[in-house]
Amino acid sequence: MKKKDLIKNYKSKIKNLKFHNDLYFNKDNPEISDQEYDKLKREIIDLENSHVFLKKIDKISNYVGAPPLNKFKKLKHLRPMLSLSNAFGKSDMIDFIKKIHNFLNLRNLNLEFTCEPKIDGISAALIYEKGFLTKGISRGDGIIGEDILENLKTISSIPKKINSKKIPDLLEVRCEIYIGKKDFENLKKDFANPRNAAGGSLRQKNPKETSKIPLRYFAYGFGAVEPMLFDKQSEFLSTIKNWGFTVNPHSEVISNIDEIESQYKKIDSLRSSLNYDIDGLVYKVNDLKFQKRLGNTSNSPRWAIAYKFSAEKAKTKINDIIIQVGRTGAITPVAKVEPVNVGGVVVSNATLHNEDEINRKDIRVGDTILIQRAGDVIPQVVSVDLSKRSKTSNKYIFPNKCLCGSETKKEFSKSTKKQDAVRRCFKGYDCKFIAKEKLKHLVSKEAFNIDGLGKKVIEQFWDLSLVRVPSDIFKLNYIKIQELEGWGELSIKNLKKAIEKSKFITLDKFIFSIGIRHIGQENAKVLAGFFGTIQEFTKLFDLRNRKKILLNLSDLDGIGDTQIQSIDNFFSNNTNTRISIDLIKELSIKNYSVENTGGKFSNKKLMFTGGFENMSRSEAKEIVEKNGGKVMGSISKKLNYLVIGNSKPTKKKIEQAKKLNIKLILEKDWNKILNS
Ligand code: IVH
Repeated sequence: MKKKDLIKNYKSKIKNLKFHNDLYFNKDNPEISDQEYDKLKREIIDLENSHVFLKKIDKISNYVGAPPLNKFKKLKHLRPMLSLSNAFGKSDMIDFIKKIHNFLNLRNLNLEFTCEPKIDGISAALIYEKGFLTKGISRGDGIIGEDILENLKTISSIPKKINSKKIPDLLEVRCEIYIGKKDFENLKKDFANPRNAAGGSLRQKNPKETSKIPLRYFAYGFGAVEPMLFDKQSEFLSTIKNWGFTVNPHSEVISNIDEIESQYKKIDSLRSSLNYDIDGLVYKVNDLKFQKRLGNTSNSPRWAIAYKFSAEKAKTKINDIIIQVGRTGAITPVAKVEPVNVGGVVVSNATLHNEDEINRKDIRVGDTILIQRAGDVIPQVVSVDLSKRSKTSNKYIFPNKCLCGSETKKEFSKSTKKQDAVRRCFKGYDCKFIAKEKLKHLVSKEAFNIDGLGKKVIEQFWDLSLVRVPSDIFKLNYIKIQELEGWGELSIKNLKKAIEKSKFITLDKFIFSIGIRHIGQENAKVLAGFFGTIQEFTKLFDLRNRKKILLNLSDLDGIGDTQIQSIDNFFSNNTNTRISIDLIKELSIKNYSVENTGGKFSNKKLMFTGGFENMSRSEAKEIVEKNGGKVMGSISKKLNYLVIGNSKPTKKKIEQAKKLNIKLILEKDWNKILNS
């Protein structure tokens, strides 16, 4: 069959599959028998396996592993299900430990960690009320999941009732559901890997279908527990094991970097003999008191990390080297490689990082290379096989212009005192390549979070000149969209709804969304806390106001010279200011208020000077915010308290505060307040 016909045939089968999925999952009205459906699935899988390039067009796993989500009832998690940050080597682990010590301001204390295998499956939350399993929720987006209780109940080793005298009234056990490697052998024909198979099985509408696929699980953590009965993670694991839960037998308690490394090596060597896939180890601070103090950043706990196993590798050839322009103007070279399967995923791009990396490894078009893929990150080039290099190959010359044609530059970094390795285009929205990426960032989950308006749709709308700047999103030409392939009445209705909903955005998300370099989610929150309202924030747009305001930002946690310079640069650019103003007109931006828990510092404004004996500034700040207060960056009449740490407080600040009759809190009183 010709390639063109093959693609046509493949696309039509996928279309057919989508049609029957919709009848089955959404309309509860299947037209074909299960056998016919399976046959169709089989044909698509065969096509994909024999013509790998088809997977670049579409993938059966897009439809089979994850059917439409509206078939399960949505449930809100009692506590968010966060993700883990990753470590890829010893130095990342040293960093992880250092950060924890800094945050807690611990000096010589040796912290204990649990070390647990990271099971590569599907996470779920099991909720027990008075010992009875009452809810089972999939992870979903971490905030809202799906009610998959009936499917989870088919796993016989999950306790339906806990038989013990002393159990919490409410207990949420978090676990990872998986399919054993041996069991997967029989399912190989239908799924790409055990993880997809587990996901597919858990999402079966009919629990009877789930029970046909042998799911297993390991319990690894807890969400809500009332009353709290545990002091340590290791104690939690051993207790629930006694209650009948399955916990992983390879968990250990360790307490220094050497043990971290040796445990890592030990489990890595066991890896292939285990009956389940693991993709690394999870290290968690063992003491729950410390876990609580450490808390979370936006997406992941500070007290845990996933130390990933080394990546899957494969050989391939570089067909071309292109450059990509990121939303901050960074120019990233990308190798277009001969498609190759790396650990179950077909890869056709590999990042080359930057100009220096290409020079260091002398990477050229036509080279045979070894690439590796770790987790969800873009594959990287490990090495070049020089023995296979053609005699006529030429050194790769890195372009010094952006795709938009303008000059690029490497900046001098004040913090590292070195020239940046990355070249950048500085045109912002005036470079169409950057503009497109900025729009993708704006609609992303962490920003405006517009369902149905992902990266691909932004590309599509951009190509049709439907969007150029953020405010265009709120003035879309739906008549034009209606004519596009893939856009039906329902999808347009849903898109409109999602866009309408996104207009009600909080100030911190708005600040994050506009994409000021060096202002990530955390810094955006700090700034939102400082400005409070969009009216205050827009004062930055005016040069004279801005200079004054910027002087006050430097005392905010996480906001240093780099951030201040970046904010200044951003609003010095007239296009950015105009675009921001136009966007604000379309929105209803909610004032930023830290959830007022009616805590100790409810509605109070505090400022710190000097360091504390028992905690870091970051922790002190988090405590204030958790208790309804705000941390200020400068002394003003608005301030309620100046908290003075014993270690090197600034005299000038204390004097200023005294003049303004602001109450002073000394370190010993601060500790008393916290313990009261
Ligand atoms: S602890 C705040 N422990 O990995 C998250 N997670 O990337 C704490 N996972 O969603 C997670 N084995 O599905 C933890 N021993 C383990 C785990 C584990 C697998 C999964 C889990 C989580 C994901 C985080």
